[in-house]
Formats: sequence, structure tokens, C-alpha cells
Amino acid sequence: MSSQLRSLLSRLGDAPVVFMTGAGISAESGIPTFRGEEGYWTVGSRNFHPTELATRQAFSEVPDDVWCWYLFRRGVCNQALPNAGHEALARMEESLGDRFLLVTQNVDSLHERAGNSPKKIFEVHGNINFMRCWAECNLNLWRIPQGVGPKARGVGLSDEERELLVCPECGGRARPHVLWFDECYDEAWFRYDSSMNAVKRCGALVTVGSSGTTNLPMRMASVASGSGAILIDINPETNPFSRLAQASGGVWLKRPAGAALNDLRELL
Ligand code: APR
Repeated sequence: MSSQLRSLLSRLGDAPVVFMTGAGISAESGIPTFRGEEGYWTVGSRNFHPTELATRQAFSEVPDDVWCWYLFRRGVCNQALPNAGHEALARMEESLGDRFLLVTQNVDSLHERAGNSPKKIFEVHGNINFMRCWAECNLNLWRIPQGVGPKARGVGLSDEERELLVCPECGGRARPHVLWFDECYDEAWFRYDSSMNAVKRCGALVTVGSSGTTNLPMRMASVASGSGAILIDINPETNPFSRLAQASGGVWLKRPAGAALNDLRELL
């Protein structure tokens, strides 16, 4: 690990450290990001790109197809296992204690399954294992019922599954608890204010496996940089986070998440 990183981290003292993870940390668990070919989903004779399907608009038009796509991805996520990167973050929560916070864009539950505590994880894009009321008659989240299994490509929603995917309060249709491309972050569902407040106070922001295409993570990085925090980006490819880290005197670790996080753990 570079001597530059060592000297930077020696300045940390007991300042808080915020980690922000993206799909890249789960790539090593075999969960494909949905920017590649494998992300497409066929509805009727049409191939939908995720950005067309992960929307309120699509859910209002073809709710069953949107549910099937999420249940397919939920099956992929629940088959996957946490990898060395997730394990390293769980160990870092143990060693950093109250100084540790994890903000994740991932909806796959792998951080919690690796051992990070739920109160230390802000799931700013939701969680694929949960649903909520489409009509928003209440703010509750419900785990998707056991009776709703993983979906194979091309298999539609059964009547039994459709009856289980309802709001337990009003009986109306339930929706996946994820942030859609035509929706906005907020505090109640996605911890927007809490995430921004955390980076205003942190001594270091470590971004891992993200392409910097979404709003909140990029805002977090610019606020952290503006308040003098150390920026560290972990990603084999250059991206807005790695460029901001280098421009602000921080470090870009051009490496896969698992190996880099385990080395970082030794220094924190
Ligand atoms: N270790 C670290 N980074 C990796 C690895 C790895 N082993 N493999 C790939 N990456 C990097 C890629 O270089 C890329 O920059 O992970 C990043 C994945 O980028 P995206 O697929 O865009 O994922 P993410 O940034 O999390 O997407 C943000 O947009 O698609 C929506 O809501 C969805 O949460 C997602 C959000």
C-alpha cells in the first residue's frame, strides 16, 4: 500500500470514516452490474434496458413484468455470497466502531450478510428483498414473502405470487423497495440527509466500485472533498471518484475491491 496513503491516514486521528460502495464490490460475488448485456430483460418481443424498466412509469404500465425482473435479480443476489471486500468492511466496522459508516448503492443485502450491522448501513437505493405500498398508504417496509420465489427469464408472475405482492395494510399492489430512475432520493426511504451530514463530518471518504453515474454518491464526494476529508477511490477503472480523489490530494487504488479493502484494513 502506498506510502502516500499511509501518511494521509496517519493524519486521520479518531475522525469518522465513511465508505460508499457500488456494484463493483459485488461483481466479485458474481452479481453482474446491469450496465452490461446481461442486464437486458425481454417483455413480449421487446428487450428493455434497465434504465427503462427500473422506473415508476414502467411499473405503472407493466407491473408484473417489472416484478418478474426484480424477482429474477433477487434470485441472483440471494444465490451470491459476500466476498473478501464485503468481509473486510465488516472487520473494519469492528475495528472503527462508532467512527464507521457504510453508504451503499447496492440492493443485494451482501453487506449485512457479511456482518455489517444494519444501523451502520445506509441503503440509498433500497433493498431487493423488500417491498412497500405502491399507493404509499404507509411508510413500512415488508420483506418479500417466502412464497414468492426467484424468477427464471421468461417466466411470468403466478396468481399466488400476485396475491402475495400486496400491501399488508391496504391490500393494494406492493412495489419493490428500490429507487427508480424517475424518482428522487429522500431521507425517509433512502437516508439522503443522513448520508450528506455524515460526509460533512468525516475525516475520510472511501468510494468502492462505483462509476459515479448517480447523484447522491457524487454529491457526497464533492462535499467530503470540500470539507477537507481524505478521498480514497477503489476501482480498476478510472472514474469521477478516482479523478476527484487524485485532484484533491487523495489516492486512487486502481485495484479490485477485495484485495484493496483488505490492505486498507491493515492501515485503518
Ligand atoms: N472492484 C472494484 N470495482 C469494480 C470491480 C471490482 N472487482 N469490478 C468492476 N468495478 C467497477 C467498474 O469499473 C465500475 O466503475 O464498478 C463500477 C460499477 O459501475 P456501475 O455498474 O455503474 O455501478 P454503480 O456505480 O454502483 O451504479 C450506480 O446506478 O445502475 C444504477 O441503481 C443502480 O446502484 C446502481 C447505480
